Amino acid sequence: MLTIYADGGESGHNLYTVPLVAVVAKCPHITRGGWFWRVAMEQRERPKAQLYRGAFCGGIAANHVSYGVRQLFTDRCSLYVMLSHKVDLEKLEEPEKVVGPAYTSRYCTLPVPKYELSETGMRPDCAYQLVHDEMNLDGNPSLNLASFVTTWMEPQATQLIVENIHKNFADQFEYPQTEVIHKRCINMLARLFNAPDPVTFAGTETAGSSEAVMLGLLAHKWTWKKRRQAEGKPSDKPNVIFGADAHICWDKFAKYFDVEPRVIPLEEDNFTITKEEVAELIDENTTCVGVILGTTFTGEIDPIEDINDLLVDVKNERGWDIPIHVDAAIGGFILPFSKPELAWDFRLPQVKSINVSAHKYGLVYPGLGWLIFRDMSDLPEELMFYVSYLGDEMASYTLNFSRGSGMLLAQYYNLLRLGWQGYAMAANAVLENARYLTKRLHDTGYFDVLNAAEILPVITLRLGEPVDFSVYDLSAKLRERGWIVPAYTLPPNADHITIMRIVVRQNFSRDMADLFVEDVKKAYAALLAPKTKTIVKQRSAREAHSVL
Ligand SMILES: Cc1ncc(COP(=O)(O)O)c(C=O)c1O
Repeated sequence: MLTIYADGGESGHNLYTVPLVAVVAKCPHITRGGWFWRVAMEQRERPKAQLYRGAFCGGIAANHVSYGVRQLFTDRCSLYVMLSHKVDLEKLEEPEKVVGPAYTSRYCTLPVPKYELSETGMRPDCAYQLVHDEMNLDGNPSLNLASFVTTWMEPQATQLIVENIHKNFADQFEYPQTEVIHKRCINMLARLFNAPDPVTFAGTETAGSSEAVMLGLLAHKWTWKKRRQAEGKPSDKPNVIFGADAHICWDKFAKYFDVEPRVIPLEEDNFTITKEEVAELIDENTTCVGVILGTTFTGEIDPIEDINDLLVDVKNERGWDIPIHVDAAIGGFILPFSKPELAWDFRLPQVKSINVSAHKYGLVYPGLGWLIFRDMSDLPEELMFYVSYLGDEMASYTLNFSRGSGMLLAQYYNLLRLGWQGYAMAANAVLENARYLTKRLHDTGYFDVLNAAEILPVITLRLGEPVDFSVYDLSAKLRERGWIVPAYTLPPNADHITIMRIVVRQNFSRDMADLFVEDVKKAYAALLAPKTKTIVKQRSAREAHSVL
């Protein structure tokens, strides 16, 4: 079954005034584990991990999704992928080609083309106002309980970002001090992740955890390849092992870098991987085992210590030195503070690289991530690129070249400003608020709680009582009040379980938790009520407004 949500699309109406059109199409080809493939249209529905997985990684199924969608929709709607496509101007009515006259032409006196460059441009206040107004169609970031990404920073951090927004981090000749600060951040983080002495850790900033995961895995693939070649063994069949609980960037790595993904399915009652499952899949061609410190789907953590012990045994018994990459996108700025005693990082000998999203609980705006290698020897020399500066060589290991310096400086600001105690307070505050919200939601009696924010500030719920609506309906109903709460099915083999996930970030207060629970209760009651009861008695204009 293919579920497609479309909305008013290009007609430019407000999301809340145009009812969502839900199209449910039967597609016999889309059978992979009985998944619901949700394809959101245009910019209205934000991407969900599940959605990416569906759109990019379903192989044959994804092709059918895209084929089916193209068959179903006119050019006024588009398949939701991050790739934008051509708008056929021939097929548009004249009014659809322009950003309509607004503000009775106080700002724009000429029609503004939507899909072509205008001939003359416009005044800055006009451009500002048009863009500013379009942004009103986005959701409210403060009510976005779907995202891990930081939506609030202190004004001083914002000031630093704005002051440095024009500096390209790649121009290390011109802006050497940003590189100095980069080095300080890497040092602080590697030590936070317990990089042992006397090894020489190394690391880099990235655009986010996706780039960091890919660079980490690429390095391990090269190390494996070099070792195999040195041993005179074939190196054409690398594989990487991770769970279906991993983020889509792991699948992306496997596809883009031509490595066989050995994906461990989830179980009915276990949404992380086990060391036994890893043991079954490893062989001499395994370049890396991936573990997740906070899964995107349920916020749980893989048994990292167990898997480390397994790989230590494998190394001793079979001679295969298989590294672990820890995807700490979500947990990397929480667990070192909330549970410093938990060994998931470089304290474990097979953990050779770690990524963390600065723009999640590092409390920086998007997009910044970090990749740290335990030791320089984990990063093959062949992958480094050098620029020379005043007789010095500066190394880089990135997928991109140019990028802004603002977020790096914002991270440094936070590290200075918060210190260990500040980050610990931030981590414990979101955990406490998440646990408070879990209890209040549990007390409604509507939900089974799958993850009660014990380790990370993520709550996952499914409907407890049998009712004739789903968490998708509840999510849509909550959206009417502005709350953005994703609903999705878990990955295979837990894909019969449909959940709602709530992420608690630093801006989410107890008060907001209370308001949210009241809205959940109202939404639930509205969905439960027989449809006739929800029809509000129509009143005439005279009845509704007193006439003087
Ligand atoms: C576990 C995990 N890994 C990687 C990523 C990708 O992170 P980013 O958006 O920073 O690229 C995410 C995103 O939510 C995630 O949850």
